[in-house]
Amino acid sequence: MVNDKGKEKNVSEAQIAVHWKEEELIHPPASFVEQANMKDADILKRFGEANFPECFREYADMLDWYEPWNKTLDTSNPPFWKWFVGGKLNACFNCVDRHLPKYKNKTALHFVPEPENEAVQHITFQELYVRVNAFAAFLRDYCGLKRGDRVTLHMPMVPELPITMLACARLGVIHSQVFSGFSGRACADRIVDSQSRLLITTDGYYRGGTLLDHKEKADIAADQAAEHGQKVEKVLIWERYPGKYSSPTKLVEGRDVLVNDLLPQYRRARVEPEKMNAEDVLFLMYTSGTTGKPKGAQHSTGGYMAYVTGTSKYVQDIHPEDVYWCMADIGWITGHSYIVYGPLSLAASSVIYEGTPTFPDAGRPWRIAEELDVNIFHTSPTAVRALRRVGPDEPAKYNYNFKHMTTVGEPIEPEVWRWYYNVVGGKKAAIVDTWWQTETGGFLCSTLPGIHPMKPGSAGPGMPGIYPAILDDDGKPLPAGSNKAGNIVIQNPWPGLMETIWGDDDRFVQQYYSRYCRDKNSKDWHDWPYFAGDGAMQASDGYFRILGRIDDVINVAGHRLGTKELESAALTVDEIGEAAVVPVADPVKGKVPHIFVSLKPGIEPTEEVRRKVSDALSGEIGPIAKPGRVWIVPDMPKTRSGKIMRRVLGAIANNQPEGDITTLANPDVVKKIREMS
Ligand code: WTA
Repeated sequence: MVNDKGKEKNVSEAQIAVHWKEEELIHPPASFVEQANMKDADILKRFGEANFPECFREYADMLDWYEPWNKTLDTSNPPFWKWFVGGKLNACFNCVDRHLPKYKNKTALHFVPEPENEAVQHITFQELYVRVNAFAAFLRDYCGLKRGDRVTLHMPMVPELPITMLACARLGVIHSQVFSGFSGRACADRIVDSQSRLLITTDGYYRGGTLLDHKEKADIAADQAAEHGQKVEKVLIWERYPGKYSSPTKLVEGRDVLVNDLLPQYRRARVEPEKMNAEDVLFLMYTSGTTGKPKGAQHSTGGYMAYVTGTSKYVQDIHPEDVYWCMADIGWITGHSYIVYGPLSLAASSVIYEGTPTFPDAGRPWRIAEELDVNIFHTSPTAVRALRRVGPDEPAKYNYNFKHMTTVGEPIEPEVWRWYYNVVGGKKAAIVDTWWQTETGGFLCSTLPGIHPMKPGSAGPGMPGIYPAILDDDGKPLPAGSNKAGNIVIQNPWPGLMETIWGDDDRFVQQYYSRYCRDKNSKDWHDWPYFAGDGAMQASDGYFRILGRIDDVINVAGHRLGTKELESAALTVDEIGEAAVVPVADPVKGKVPHIFVSLKPGIEPTEEVRRKVSDALSGEIGPIAKPGRVWIVPDMPKTRSGKIMRRVLGAIANNQPEGDITTLANPDVVKKIREMS
């Protein structure tokens, strides 16, 4: 496609998004509204622009502070906003210690192992307190970690993961958790970027019925990191079965430490929580961007904790007596904000499930919900689609009651939404479709479940205190109800927003602000809209429908993958000359990557080459990056300046017309590629 400025654009997810019709409004059940934490529409006024930024005190006041802040928002150095300046607090104290007087005997974490014959573990707040303190003492006294150090975690869905995060937070150590499904190499990149001296991992975990060897990835990660100049001094290994090392991979003398062997010595230790400044870093979360290197979203302590606590209360509707299950992985931002920090700050009982939702069958999530009496359920459209496909009638067979359900991570098709609402929720649950990002810390658009009606396929209005707009390519706002797609921006700063990209302020400004900043010298936040990188449209009722990424990021099953990362993985295969990745619509995962490769001269296209490419993507990045198809093409369609036209490849792979190809240097190749499909 050539836009009106004559610049070529790559195919984007928004361009190939399905165009949905306007859907009906569905009101939340009265039984839900009656008990909702937030049912007073006055909140919309309280968080209106006239009360910005002081409105966010309401969230910060939900936390315990050692010292109050003296400035709610400091905008003196745009776009590096500072929230709750002068305030001091500790995230771990807010998630654990402060609940002890009232809730020490209440479950904080329910851990559900994947093997169904293994008992569920119920960890009370008191037990969590003891275990977090013990591990914090171990990190401090045995490992020498101190405030401001970074540590990389590569941990699966086991209770030791939140325990590790909270122990770090207690010490003021910055954790950087890498999704356990990622490869050792992907982990190494993040170790190097964050300069971690320590890697915390496990020997193994269950996934799809198999106890996977996870420790082997730690060896790869440490070796690769060393090659890139970052020495990992210690690898701390939690055991899936304490006292029984379950990995076939040998321990490395002098480097590897079995945590469970040493931890009993620290069981009685108590560690004073560090009094952190509001703007001190709580954690890094790496995410894919438009260029190859993943970027570390740097989240603050005060602003982040205030934002996830407030939104967990008003949008997730968490009360201490609820049983809350978010089926996301803690390795993603959803798990950080809405399994660990937000819910625990509200003294929730939060469920952690180790394995695959459909293991051993599609009834598993509903059995867990029944057994634990889960009443708040949180998952992604990909999981809903998969459960609907393999077990459309399963939910009705179990006796559970959801009052509230969430969908997050990708656009949800109205048909899938309706199955979720009618069948999973039995029409008795309020649903929120929450749109947000790793960078944003918490929700940006969603209905407030006790106030707004739901609309299948639409995220809803901006959250309280979040003022989104849709801009065209020239920065002009598109009016609500215009039915035109544009780029969604947030016009104002908010407390959950990342502080910067770790170690790369320039990239932060470039990526999120350069596109629409009105005046680089301006100290007025109104001149600095946050560019989210998503296409969206706004209906006349103010609800936003998110269409998908407009940059080179592919959203596979709710996980962000950079096309450049995938392409550079393919180029590690010797035979490959060029590679181009495009997103292709998929009935379960939303999108899957297809990769087009052209071979170096003299190389024959064989199954072997195809397999090597596929393995390179899974090996370099992780199984989620496995391509839906590897196309070996005679040549890439290119512009006269030599740029690969991904738009044309995207159209072919999605079985759509390729549009105008007259600007190509080699239009003949398009027909040849199409014949392969
Ligand atoms: C997409 C996940 C439609 C979007 C929390 C965004 C969504 C990217 C929704 C961020 C939603 C997230 N509807 N699309 N409710 N939620 N997205 O950083 O493209 O892993 O930019 O954060 O997921 O993905 P991330």
